[in-house]
Amino acid sequence: MWWKENIVYQIYPRSFLDTSETEFPDDGIGDIPGIISRLDKLKSLGVGIIWLSPVYKSPDADNGYDISDYYSISPKFGTMADMEKLFAEAKKRDMRIIMDLVINHTSDEHEWFVKSRDPKSPYSDYYIWHPGKTSKRGRRLPPNNWTGFFMGETWEYDEKRGEYYLHLFDKKQPDLNYKNPKVIEEVKNILKFWLDKGASGFRCDVINIIYKTSLTDGKRSLAVQGLEHFKSQEGNHEVLRELRRDVFDKYDCFTVGETVFVDLEDARLLSNENRKELNMLFFFDHLEVDRRIAQFIPKKFRARKLLEVITKWQQGLDWNAMYLENHDQPRIVSHFGAAERDRALDGKPGELWQRSAKMLGLFQLTLRGTPYIYQGQEIGMTNFDFKSLDELNDVVSHSLNKLMKKLCIPKFLRWKWIKASSRDNSRTPVQWDNSENAGFTKGKPWLGINRNYKFINYASQENDPNSILNFYKKMITLRKHSMCLIYGEFLPVYADDRLIIYQRKLGEELYTIALNFSSRTVKAPKKFNELFRGTQVVSASGKKLEGTNSVCTYGVCTLLPWDGVLVRSN
Ligand code: GLC
Repeated sequence: MWWKENIVYQIYPRSFLDTSETEFPDDGIGDIPGIISRLDKLKSLGVGIIWLSPVYKSPDADNGYDISDYYSISPKFGTMADMEKLFAEAKKRDMRIIMDLVINHTSDEHEWFVKSRDPKSPYSDYYIWHPGKTSKRGRRLPPNNWTGFFMGETWEYDEKRGEYYLHLFDKKQPDLNYKNPKVIEEVKNILKFWLDKGASGFRCDVINIIYKTSLTDGKRSLAVQGLEHFKSQEGNHEVLRELRRDVFDKYDCFTVGETVFVDLEDARLLSNENRKELNMLFFFDHLEVDRRIAQFIPKKFRARKLLEVITKWQQGLDWNAMYLENHDQPRIVSHFGAAERDRALDGKPGELWQRSAKMLGLFQLTLRGTPYIYQGQEIGMTNFDFKSLDELNDVVSHSLNKLMKKLCIPKFLRWKWIKASSRDNSRTPVQWDNSENAGFTKGKPWLGINRNYKFINYASQENDPNSILNFYKKMITLRKHSMCLIYGEFLPVYADDRLIIYQRKLGEELYTIALNFSSRTVKAPKKFNELFRGTQVVSASGKKLEGTNSVCTYGVCTLLPWDGVLVRSN
């Protein structure tokens, strides 16, 4: 199956590469011609599918996740002709493109919403409107106590219509009403439009909360309040089945759902092939092993916990979407890797940054499921060393700051948490070379360029056989040629606070993977020595396992700090 055997690469267009070939030349915002010019590089990395974050027309309250026209391209990114060229150029290279489908909400500047503000318009039921409640003193109150994903209100009063509308995200992102069959028809038309243009599928944004069963008060909760009325509702499953039956099944395409607070049980319902809803989905559990309360507050990382969570998902679902980074998450080498500890004063990262980035690549590329690599991950890009809130663009970071201020959380703590969790960490422009602005733009970049671009950039890694980039290339090639690494069973073997060991098995083919998530040298317990008897296929440090000379005769596994090894048993 092509979407199981390929590597997906996520492009966040505004931070990918800016050119002078659009209506806004050198505007500091990446564009479609920029993507086209780098297709050969992606091909040589081994990428077969590109997931494009939104490129549609949008006022950019949430960087394109607030769409004002699903049928046109934002002039910042280019034109429809550029988009058609991108489909054609990708096809020439045997690559496919999937689009981002944001249908829980639109922008408040979308024509449907503008018209919906008039109760007599045919669009009046396209969104979730409600007159609200009245307090004993006659004050107008919102319809319920729900709280939103962006840490603010979920209801906004519209003077023109004289009613509240629901927005689970920003107030510029009103939620669509999936009880209205006309909305579903509109979505089908959007899907067909893009599939006919050449898209090979969709990444479906927050897809398990689109259907709101009721608008009554939610249970008191520190996280999002009201979830039980809109998370993974039966109505939601029905909409997905209808889209699958009427559209997706008629094309050679696939869907990957982004979900919210999804547990294994929900995930099975959403992605089990027999139920004919989504093909696979993104979950968040594995990236939250070192965080508490809705992601923001850190707790100690323990490798044991990571293996436990990964095993649950690897064995619990028939097929996974495996990612370590995206445009909403911190950079993985700063999160689970050694980048933060391993930085000299001038920002120059050291050997452990590089080794841990490779070890994490080894981890991701030896799991069962379609791998999703996020732009810059393949060169070990790190979190941004923000100096102040003014350097941040992310709407969530700003509202989180406001909320924490209200809760009287001291400034230094607010800043510490925001710095570590801000979505802008992964949104800084791709570091292509060591020229001004990292070769990303000739203009002023829309978001700061990471100060370490002179040390971490694509060009410097291309010709370095020991680079992270070349390690990814090697791992991708290896994976593509091994049915075992793609489809094999996932078998957990051992974990402690620092080390994890697991295997992949298909028929006679067996791989053992050991990863050290710490700055100490670790040794696997003796009883596992047997597992490391075989051919060492690859290691993050480039060092051979102890007592070995390409063949692990002693079968001992001692790992250097942040090292990872892959051994094939014969
Ligand atoms: C998803 C997107 C995120 C966006 C949100 C609202 O989580 O990945 O970037 O802000 O949905 O559309």
